[in-house]
Amino acid sequence: MNVTTFSRSPRVYTPANALDAHAEQLQAQTLGDLLNGDPQASQQRAEELRFTLDAHHVDLHVDFSKQRVNEHTLALLLDWVRSCNLVEKRQAFFDGAKVNPSEQRAALHMAARWPEGETPPGGMQDAVNFCLAQRQKLADLVERLHAREWFGATGQSITDVVHIGVGGSDLGPKLISEALGSRPSQTHVAVHYVSTMDGAQLLPLMERLDPATTLVVLASKSFTTADTRFNVHTTLTWLSEALEIDVPTLCRHQLIGVSSRPDKMTEFGIPEAHQLVFEEWIGGRFSIWSPIGVSVAMQLGMATFDTLLAGAHAVDRHFLETPLEANIPVLMAAIGAWNTQFLHIPTHAILPYDGRLSSVPAYLQQLEMESNGKSVGLDKRAVTHATCPIIWGDVGPNGQHAFYQLLHQGSHTVSADFIAVAGREEMAEGELGEALHAQEQLTLANCLAQSQLFALGDDAIPAVARGAMAQGYRGNQPNSVILMKRLDGFNIGALLALYEHKVFVQSVLWNVNPFDQPGVELGKQLATQLYQQMTSDAENGADACDAVTDPSTQALLERI
Ligand code: F6P
Repeated sequence: MNVTTFSRSPRVYTPANALDAHAEQLQAQTLGDLLNGDPQASQQRAEELRFTLDAHHVDLHVDFSKQRVNEHTLALLLDWVRSCNLVEKRQAFFDGAKVNPSEQRAALHMAARWPEGETPPGGMQDAVNFCLAQRQKLADLVERLHAREWFGATGQSITDVVHIGVGGSDLGPKLISEALGSRPSQTHVAVHYVSTMDGAQLLPLMERLDPATTLVVLASKSFTTADTRFNVHTTLTWLSEALEIDVPTLCRHQLIGVSSRPDKMTEFGIPEAHQLVFEEWIGGRFSIWSPIGVSVAMQLGMATFDTLLAGAHAVDRHFLETPLEANIPVLMAAIGAWNTQFLHIPTHAILPYDGRLSSVPAYLQQLEMESNGKSVGLDKRAVTHATCPIIWGDVGPNGQHAFYQLLHQGSHTVSADFIAVAGREEMAEGELGEALHAQEQLTLANCLAQSQLFALGDDAIPAVARGAMAQGYRGNQPNSVILMKRLDGFNIGALLALYEHKVFVQSVLWNVNPFDQPGVELGKQLATQLYQQMTSDAENGADACDAVTDPSTQALLERI
């Protein structure tokens, strides 16, 4: 469907200009008009705006019918997508082209989940071979652990894993451990995540865990991140003091490294056999599929880790092969960009209706904001429109008792994704089973009610009762509902891959590089300088404040 009409004559026709003009016209229509108008048209709209991905054990349903779009909007959006050469750029991306020009790298996280025996796109084969070899090494290490044949420095078998990483080296594995870890344990290994640089998460672990049976996973793509280095240093100090064993010996027996820098792992004292490598063409926030997921495999078993990869791969195929009109990540991206750039909605809430998915908002914050939170284009010129919205969120039912007031009656327009799990496997029998089933139904009812209320506001109330019940609910807050049939590796893998490809498509629409993160560097440098001044000046009896130029920071330092 190509749309080439553009009613506002003074401007040259471009799909983006057409969308601008269309947005102005559509502002007059509310979601109430779109959803509660002519019943037949509304019914048709509901049918046309829902999509199901039902393949290779993935069963994910995405409903866009509460977005502020109509048929014409979608046609214009797809016209825009085509005009940005998405199809060619998608192919180049899968073929291993250097889609990250500032770092001169490809972005081939899809290679880490490409199944053995399935032919990958032309330029991906070497990357797939590399990933398969590392996955085999990972599987061997995991098997050794599960066979209780991994012994610490004192000869005792490992029972606990402390995974130390931050950002992409923490958020993905932690999310999966929480999402799938509530099932009856498939292994005897417990995994604990440590990311905060202050050591606060380590303290209770050091009190609770047995140092003789604890294995440390040092996860850091760059192997230079201060947060992780300091946490590892403290952990090794604890192990060394508690076991009275020197650090180099502990590094040989109780430390696994996961990084793109094998040279640095070797220098640190990690034996080659305990090094898992992923290449630079997998970005940190796209790395859950790589050996960064080793702790997930240790906790949940290799078979579960493989389901995660399979679910994500099903989405790769969907993204590559499905026509744009029915391509879920393309639609997620185009509608998201429409909300931000044309409807000027600056924030997007992620609202999972399942306690096991509480880390999804944080994961997507990094994935989306670190990728597309840019305002300089690939052509090195300033981007003159909004790009990635502020992503935020929390477990939906808890949010209902906290920030939903603002969403319903405040003055901000917000878009949202509601994420729910349609069915749980039986968790218990008898009355307990019934009680838990009732809670599941209650949660789903709340999810649907809130999605409806976001969209319709007071119009969600049946007309007969509206007079008495209307309370000034604003409505017109566009939202999508994503329903997973079950919460398992396949579906959670697919969910995360959908968002990854959404990010890629939006980067094409906005012409930004989604695979670098130059905006995080300066803060690290300033903090390093300040830290050095604080520590060395304290040793020399000098005053660190003298080295700081701005009076605000100086005063705070004095206070410290
Ligand atoms: O500071 C940002 C960042 O580089 C992220 O991109 C990354 O996921 C995180 O830090 C951790 O980096 P690393 O895995 O290299 O320790």
